[in-house]
Amino acid sequence: MNIAESTDWDGIWHNQRNHFKATIYNNDFIPHKPFTNQVKFLIYPSEELFYGGQAGGGKSDCLLMSALQYVEDKHIPEGENKLNYNALIIRRTLEDLDMPNAIMDRAKQWLLPLEDKLGVVWKEKKKRFIFPSGATLTFRYLSHNKHLNSYQGAELQFVGFDELTQFPENQYQYLHSRLRKLEDSDIPIRMRSASNPGGIGHDWVKKRFIDEESSLPFIPSSYTDNKYLNQKEYVKQLDKLDELTKLQLKYGDWNAILKEGLLINRDGLKSALISYNIYKDWQPAFCSIGIDPASTGNDKFAMSCLVYFNNGNIVLVDLDATPSAFPEERLKNFIIRNAKWNPYVVNFEQEPGSDSTYALKHWQGVLKDLVSKYGIIVKKTQSSNSKYNRARPTANLIRQNRLFFDDRINPERLRALFNQYVYIHPDKEVMKEYPSPDELDSLGYGFMEIQNIIRL
Ligand SMILES: Nc1ncnc2c1ncn2[C@@H]1O[C@H](COP(=O)(O)OP(=O)(O)O)[C@@H](O)[C@H]1O
Ligand SMILES: [Mg+2]
Repeated sequence: MNIAESTDWDGIWHNQRNHFKATIYNNDFIPHKPFTNQVKFLIYPSEELFYGGQAGGGKSDCLLMSALQYVEDKHIPEGENKLNYNALIIRRTLEDLDMPNAIMDRAKQWLLPLEDKLGVVWKEKKKRFIFPSGATLTFRYLSHNKHLNSYQGAELQFVGFDELTQFPENQYQYLHSRLRKLEDSDIPIRMRSASNPGGIGHDWVKKRFIDEESSLPFIPSSYTDNKYLNQKEYVKQLDKLDELTKLQLKYGDWNAILKEGLLINRDGLKSALISYNIYKDWQPAFCSIGIDPASTGNDKFAMSCLVYFNNGNIVLVDLDATPSAFPEERLKNFIIRNAKWNPYVVNFEQEPGSDSTYALKHWQGVLKDLVSKYGIIVKKTQSSNSKYNRARPTANLIRQNRLFFDDRINPERLRALFNQYVYIHPDKEVMKEYPSPDELDSLGYGFMEIQNIIRL
């Protein structure tokens, strides 16, 4: 929910003015003076708040100001000698934190010169500033779910995610659960985040903060707000970007999508939608279910049910995906509701190097009853092909009007699949910007089995 316009800012300013001056303007650890939208971000009194949109809008700067808001001595409660305020700022990788002018590097630029004068200390190993008040500001990266374990006992008063769309939602929610309001302290607990559109978490971030139906607040970011930026030069740089990234970074467009992909375009995909009435009388010859298991915590467990018909056409009759790594019931349901097609094989993708023998045993156990009931084979296949090359043959068949998608498939899943067909790219670096193409991959694994049986 965009709160920049609809809020009674005069009212909030009236209440917060003195507090703002004391904690931001006159804060010795904050060298920058915030501009209007940054002030709005800093004074809005909600537990959760997101700063999103165009690059260069001063989001990271503002996130750092927010984290530093309560580190000074003056917040030590009466009768105590130490301030209990612990702030955490998260990025995806260590490099993301440390790159020149990235958020941790910026904090060092602000605070290291104050070591002698104000007694703030930097602990390199822990990536932590310790303030004379006792308050701390720690920088951490979070590239994998297993990193969450180290926060089990953590009690934080501020968590800031920079570039939030690079994270899956569960990681955000987990750290949100680590916020603790301190008794006898006026310091509010705050979950603050900032991001451009795009990235693996684009969809959930948009749903959570940006969409009209969302109830959580966000402030839009615009580089035109930022008078500290050489805007003319900056626009020149943004104009060099590819079309989609330009829409996201220059215009902060949360709805931007690619129309044309390298393999197929959106019109081609849409024309492959088929209604059940059209294909229900075709003669099914072979049905296979392809599975792309979830592995890293950033991806989904995706399942595709493909049916090859005697007339040479293939229909994706069902598609499902879930962030859970072991969705036993969901997979069983998926197989049962597609049993009418006589699925012959359930084919799991084997990631190279992963411990998938164990995983396959697990799934064979889970599906034991269905295997004997329907005569299904549960197997795994390791592909030497890249994801891009795996998508190529099915994209060709779509263009030849031989592969169709049942139009009753959950629209969200279909939208994800179509997006993946459009953004799939041979360059791994490019793919890092996008959600893992799990639906597409599961379709590819289902298709491989059809190809093994029938030469297409
Ligand atoms: N209030 C401010 N005062 C001075 N410089 C600022 C201020 N806000 C942002 N900047 C500078 O503008 C540039 C872009 O800001 P940044 O926070 O990186 O934007 P974003 O995170 O939205 O891409 C940075 O060099 C930053 O230090
Ligand atoms: Mg930034």
